[in-house]
Amino acid sequence: MVSRAAWLYIALVVTVTALLVSRTPVMPPHTIHPLADLIVLQLLFLACDSSPAPLASRQTKWSPSSSATLAAVVLFGPVAAALVGAIAVLSLRRNRRLAERLFNGAMHALCGLAAGKVYLALHGTLGPPVAADFPKIILPFAAAAAAHVVANHALIWGIYRLNPGPGMLRREALESSLPLLLVSDLGYASLGLVIASLWQVMEGFAAVIVLVPLFVARWAMGQFAEQQRAYEATMNALCQAVETKDFYTRGHGDRVSRGAGMIARKIRMSADRTEAIMFAGMLHDVGKLGVPTQVLQKEGPLTEDEFAAIQLHPMRGLEIVGEIGFLTEALAGILHHHERIDGRGYPMGFAGHQIPEFARVIAVADAFDSMTSTRSYRAAKPIDLAVGELRKGAGTQFDPLLVEAFIAALAEEGWQLPQPTSAPADLSNVTVQDHDDPTAPLQVVVA
Ligand SMILES: [Fe+2]
Repeated sequence: MVSRAAWLYIALVVTVTALLVSRTPVMPPHTIHPLADLIVLQLLFLACDSSPAPLASRQTKWSPSSSATLAAVVLFGPVAAALVGAIAVLSLRRNRRLAERLFNGAMHALCGLAAGKVYLALHGTLGPPVAADFPKIILPFAAAAAAHVVANHALIWGIYRLNPGPGMLRREALESSLPLLLVSDLGYASLGLVIASLWQVMEGFAAVIVLVPLFVARWAMGQFAEQQRAYEATMNALCQAVETKDFYTRGHGDRVSRGAGMIARKIRMSADRTEAIMFAGMLHDVGKLGVPTQVLQKEGPLTEDEFAAIQLHPMRGLEIVGEIGFLTEALAGILHHHERIDGRGYPMGFAGHQIPEFARVIAVADAFDSMTSTRSYRAAKPIDLAVGELRKGAGTQFDPLLVEAFIAALAEEGWQLPQPTSAPADLSNVTVQDHDDPTAPLQVVVA
């Protein structure tokens, strides 16, 4: 659904763009076939726009269409650049709604117009650049490219603010990928200058020559993103299997993953390690697949053997996912997530910094989520009580620095508590002990 405010915003952008374009003088053509050249650039825009490459699994898609607009800026000026951008209305992408087409057309036209005006103001002339234009053309072109990128992101930001949710613009467009998007946009924009410079020699073929290697590179990146998606689907399937087997921990893997990510960002882990630790958080209890279901769902205290079976789950987890190459450091997190700083944990009894950092991080997020989740035999603890328990365990069970990092991240980012859900009928009478809850150790039958 497009909100009323978003429609008004789109109408405003379309009107302002039309007014500005109509009041901008058309520059005299500098090529022999101005109309044909303009159409070539519009086709180039559509070709780029129609096959955006996903940057990565959770990030937005981006397309190099701005290179066509920026080439038009250099060759023909602001109005032509606006006409190239406006062709986004005819985008070949499927499922584009009218509002999205109108907004994209107006937005790209306005960006082209802004870039064209900046370029003209700083450079003064139009047409295919020649050797004598370098390097003095670079600064005006860079300013035009920056104007294009800024206008583009500002207009998108506006529509997102007015029309949040899974609507016509993907929220991811403004999320973590923003710096990457800005850099890639500027990089693509620079190709506009290359296309314009080659225009003198090969006219419209310039676009093809420049974009062929680009499309090959994007295809390769698309393959990589597909692979990432396949990894994530595998992770989700494994989590789903654990949660099917152990109903009461539904959503636990996701939340531990999120908590581990919060700590990782707070202690400034690299992006790669943050992603890996989030995988580890998601999969930390995958070894439960190797624990008999009747033990996981047992009512009342466990026998020594059953307790031992539960304590084996980190090893079982390593057995299950150990061969998945890309998990690398995440495996250490899975294997050691029940170690304690005082050395009284399992499976290895490691102490202090013998415990891999991933495992120390997961231990904090794991215990916190367990305490703040409802179990059949006890209510969820409020967040401040759970934080108090983490602090109580800092230095004995948990790494104190990571506890503080998590608490600081909680204050900044908040925490989405799980929704209490009722168990399926066949599990409604089962009292399941939670091996992650530091305030309620597993009950074992004393022989
Ligand atoms: Fe566990």
